[in-house]
Amino acid sequence: METIYIAFLGFGTVASGTYQVLKQQEEKIATSMACQVQVKKALLRNRGNYVKTAHHDFELVDSLDAILTDESITIVVEAMGGVDFAKDCIEAALKAGKHVVTANKILMAQNGEELTNLAQSQGLALYYEAAVAGGIPILESLRTSFRAEGLHSLSGIINGTSNYILSEMTDQGLSFEEALQAAKDKGFAETDPTNDIDGLDAARKLAILCRLAFGMTIPLDKMAIRGIDHVTSEDIKNTSTLGYLIKPLATAILDDDGALSVQVGPSLVPKNHQLATVTGPMNAIYTRGWASGEVMFYGPGTGALPTGNMVVADILKIVDALVHQEHIPALSRYHVPLNLSAADREI
Ligand code: HSE
Repeated sequence: METIYIAFLGFGTVASGTYQVLKQQEEKIATSMACQVQVKKALLRNRGNYVKTAHHDFELVDSLDAILTDESITIVVEAMGGVDFAKDCIEAALKAGKHVVTANKILMAQNGEELTNLAQSQGLALYYEAAVAGGIPILESLRTSFRAEGLHSLSGIINGTSNYILSEMTDQGLSFEEALQAAKDKGFAETDPTNDIDGLDAARKLAILCRLAFGMTIPLDKMAIRGIDHVTSEDIKNTSTLGYLIKPLATAILDDDGALSVQVGPSLVPKNHQLATVTGPMNAIYTRGWASGEVMFYGPGTGALPTGNMVVADILKIVDALVHQEHIPALSRYHVPLNLSAADREI
């Protein structure tokens, strides 16, 4: 049976979740894909970031070249995070003829179009399903399922930390500071939760969603982005008596004239709306289309196994194409000229 070898760049939470899914499902993957998928090497620049697994059967290397010059390695999984070095590595991997999978939301929001073009020009895959709403297969769904009809709008709860904070303020009556501390204690908030709270994390993910859903690349400075830090317990009580919850929404609405309004921030959601049921650290993306009607994707936005599972899905999509010698589909949409309307319109 053929073996397809992969290499990790970095071995933190996402890579360890990916490795766990690959190992635990090794036999099932081999049977269903008619080939084995094995991790051969992992690049570790900083061993302090290494998440120890009980057992690992791959080689730890400290230079990218050790991976790029290894012709047996077909797929590179970038799991380091950060922007500059990660971008250099992905470019180098694509130029070396390797397919790439990444969960890097910051990089894919900023440089996704450029990197996708590079991958396409090389006839290689660059997949990043885990970059948005970690455990929810939303990007592939946007690329494939809504391609014919085109969506009117999407609204997402795509930052679990801010959803957790607002949920705790609503359900437990905590203050913003108490709820933030609870998010930190439970490990939902990042070590530095600034971009969770100020809306930038959700804005980056929305930029990626817009590229796939509407074929538009939206610069972050063209989005109206508001954080959740000014939401008070008083606001929550007042809106509740009017029949609304305050939810951290990232929204894109396509006007009849083809203009897209994009905004991120705490928003009023009627208590009987499906998005109101998305509480704690959970994520959801709610779409509207003329043919599909209303569809909601719901699931975990973070966590080693859910996120690792989506990285594995991307890996297996490439493996499938390689085994069947099929064309690798690019994770991109037709390009639509950017046409933004005033981004501060109310939802
Ligand atoms: N800090 C992010 C969140 C992690 O809270 O959603 C997943 O991207």
